[in-house]
Amino acid sequence: MIARIRGNSKIEGEITVGGAKNSALPILASLVLISEEVKIERIPDISDVAEMISMIRSAGVAVNFEKNIVLARPSNLRGEIKEFGSSIRASVLLLGPLAVRMGHSQLHYPGGCSIGKRPIDIHLEGLRQFGILVDEKTDMIEAVVDKIPKDVKIDLRFPSVGATEHLMMTSVLIDGVHTEIRNCAKEPEVVDLGNFLNSMGAQIYGVGTDRININGVKRLNASVHSIIGDRIETGTYMIGALSSGGMLKINGISDGVMHNITNELKKIGAKISTYENSLIVYPSDLRSFKLSTGPYPQFPTDLQPQMALLGCHTKEYFEITETVFENRFRHVDELKKMGANISVDGQKIKVMPFKLHGAKLVGNDLRETATILFAAAIADGTSEIEKFEIIFRGYEKLYEKMKAIGVNFEIIKIDREVS
Ligand code: UD1
Repeated sequence: MIARIRGNSKIEGEITVGGAKNSALPILASLVLISEEVKIERIPDISDVAEMISMIRSAGVAVNFEKNIVLARPSNLRGEIKEFGSSIRASVLLLGPLAVRMGHSQLHYPGGCSIGKRPIDIHLEGLRQFGILVDEKTDMIEAVVDKIPKDVKIDLRFPSVGATEHLMMTSVLIDGVHTEIRNCAKEPEVVDLGNFLNSMGAQIYGVGTDRININGVKRLNASVHSIIGDRIETGTYMIGALSSGGMLKINGISDGVMHNITNELKKIGAKISTYENSLIVYPSDLRSFKLSTGPYPQFPTDLQPQMALLGCHTKEYFEITETVFENRFRHVDELKKMGANISVDGQKIKVMPFKLHGAKLVGNDLRETATILFAAAIADGTSEIEKFEIIFRGYEKLYEKMKAIGVNFEIIKIDREVS
């Protein structure tokens, strides 16, 4: 799919962000654990969600998804999902929970955006601590429940978001077993998953800290849950507005999940007002800055590509060090096609201010494509972005929101489907 974007836009107006993709995916995966009907509100209508819903349906969960609401009830659960390979990395979250429920599970290796090696060793090492035998085949992974110890202790070698979620979901239905997970991820989306599971009667303590304790229970009850707003979608629009000197109001996001991001932006001169469920970004003079990504509460890696765009609009220079993924600078080549002055030194980039111009660009991953979409909207002249469809994996109601903030884009080519 190719999109054509008219440049010279000021990103301003008002939008409402959707529910967080990174909450929705693990929460949907956890539906293989339910015993009664649950309702989840604010599920974003994006292609990664569509794929996760197909997977849990294929595992036997009955799911209805309409107007951002998921209604799910248990049906004939099965542990093997062999029909299709998954292009989303979060699919691996099904392995442990299905194994616990069915005694055995089998899935294709997970996919996902190609940002570095992204191994799943922390997930699999954790599952082994539950006495689950894990067998990695060429393109499939198999998990078989063997002897589960009464007390499970897991030390994560890195606070992986996915592994923390996966192991938490795996432990909740191991009745009578106490699990302690150390060096956990503390991201708001991990907390959202914990809150959802607890709302169904799970006994999870300490979510949001680096030590989570879980007492396994027999079954989960009915529940209604609304997922948190998407802080990465919010941050992307904020950075777009700040880069273009526009004023933008963003609804549907609480200050609580944004403060580590707004604090960093304020440090470099961004004028931002935050309210209980919205925020406003004002035109700002941005100072030079140095920033490092890292596990929460450090600055999120998912906003690092967008910050490179912001760097083109600061006074002197911008330096960012990526510490979470080892291959997350491919947007640099795309921004360079637009004239950006960026140098890469290992895991660090330095961006000098520059007025970008339109170019022919390629979308590589979700956040990089969002970055070049905003870059193209602000640049002088017109741009085209190939492989634009990647953006629909994570940005909901894009046409509507782009229109609301004054960005003009059209799809000029849709690839013919290969049957
Ligand atoms: C989640 C987010 C993703 C975000 C990332 C880091 C979802 C659906 N996706 O991805 O948007 O960029 O957190 O904030 O929530 N690692 C290992 N072995 C493992 C697991 C991870 O080496 O078993 C490494 C990864 O290669 C990566 C780092 O740990 O370098 C962080 O990965 P992780 O926190 O697990 O990210 P995801 O859960 O995949």
